[in-house]
Amino acid sequence: MSAIHIALLGMGTVGTGVVKILSNHAPNIEKKVGAPVIIKKILVRNPNKTRDIATDAQIVTNFDEILTDPDIKVVVEIMGGEFPAKDYMLAALNAGKHVITANKDVVAKHGRELFEAAEENHTDFLFEASVGGGIPIIRPLKQCLAANKISDIMGIVNGTTNYMLTKMTNEKMDYGDVLAEAQSKGYAEADPTADVGGYDAARKIAILASIGFGARITLDDVYVEGITNITIEDIEYARELGYVIKLLAVAKQDEHGINVRVHPAFLPNTHPLAAVNDVYNAIFIKGDAVGETMFYGRGAGELPTASAVTADIIDVARDIRHNVSSRILCTCFEQKPIYPVNK
Ligand code: NAP
Ligand code: HSE
Repeated sequence: MSAIHIALLGMGTVGTGVVKILSNHAPNIEKKVGAPVIIKKILVRNPNKTRDIATDAQIVTNFDEILTDPDIKVVVEIMGGEFPAKDYMLAALNAGKHVITANKDVVAKHGRELFEAAEENHTDFLFEASVGGGIPIIRPLKQCLAANKISDIMGIVNGTTNYMLTKMTNEKMDYGDVLAEAQSKGYAEADPTADVGGYDAARKIAILASIGFGARITLDDVYVEGITNITIEDIEYARELGYVIKLLAVAKQDEHGINVRVHPAFLPNTHPLAAVNDVYNAIFIKGDAVGETMFYGRGAGELPTASAVTADIIDVARDIRHNVSSRILCTCFEQKPIYPVNK
C-alpha cells in the first residue's frame, strides 16, 4: 500500500510534537489511514539549529522544493506569522495539495481566500489546532452542532494569559517572570504581544463566531483588551471580594446582531470558568437544540497542539487513501448585523 507523503512548514514547538506523534504512533496511524504517513520534507529557517528530535525527513529552506514535489499531497503549516505562511498555503492549495494549519492569525484574516482556493481546487483546508490547542472545537462546532442556531460562545481561549493569571493569583508571581516562563514552555506566540494584548484570543473568537454564527466576523468587529494592565493588587482585590480575574472571549448573537469581545473579567469563585487554571482553556457553546455544551483541555503546548494537527493529518490522509472527500462547504461568510465596537 503506497505511503501518503506530507511536508511540514516549521519544526518548532508544534512541529516537534507532530514529528513525535507521527513517529510514536506510526503503526496505529497506519491502521487508521490504511497506509503509512511519511513526512518527506520539513521547511525551516535555520537548518543548522540543534533539534529536540531526529527525523528521516529532508530538511529544506526553500518552499519551492515542497511546492513542486509531486509526491507531497499534504502541506502542514506550523511556522506561524501572517507572511509568508499565507502565501505558502495559498500556493499549496492552488497546486492541488491539501493544507492543514494551526495559524489563527492567517485563518482569522485570510480564511475566506483560503477556503475559496480549497473549493476551487477540490482540496481540504483544515485548522483544528487554530483554536483551543488540543481541545476538539472546530469540528464539533462545524459538524456536531450544525443542527443548532448558536446564540453564545464564551470562554478562555488563550493558554499563555490563563497560565500567567493563575501563577499571579496562586503564587503572586511577577508579570514579567511568569510571561518568560510561559514563553519557555512554548505556550506564547513568537511575539507574545498577541497573547497579553488579547489579539490571539480575538483571532480565535472571531474564527469561532464566524463558524458558529455563519457570519463574516473580522478582527475589526472584536472589542479587544488584554491583561497588560492587570496587577497583583487587582488580583488581590478580586480575591478579597470572592472573585478571580480571567481573560474572557465572548461572542453573542441576538435578534439585533452579533457582539464579539475579549477583555479581563471578575468571575465569582463559584463560576465554572474560575476553576480553569494553568494552560487550560474552556469554551461554552449554547445552541437552541442542544442547550449548553462545554469543551475543556490544554489550550497550548507541544503535544496537545500536535494532537489536533495530527488528527487533521489522519483525516486528510484517510481521504486520500480512499479517494473520497469529507470537505465541508464553508458557510461563514454571510454579512450579518454586528454591534459597533468601542475601542
Ligand atoms: P515556533 O516554535 O516559533 O516554530 C516555528 C517554526 O517555523 C520553526 O521551526 C522555524 O524555523 C520555522 N519558521 C518560521 N518562520 C519561517 C520562515 N519564514 N521560513 C521557514 N521556516 C520558518 O512556533 P510554534 O509555537 O510551533 O507555533 C507554530 C504555529 O502554531 C503558530 O501559528 C502558532 O500560533 C500555532 N500554535 C501554537 C501553539 C503552541 O502552543 N505553541 C498552539 C496552537 C497553535 P527554525 O526552527 O529554523 O527557527
Ligand atoms: N499562544 C497561544 C496560547 C497558543 O497561549 O493560547 C495556542 O493557540
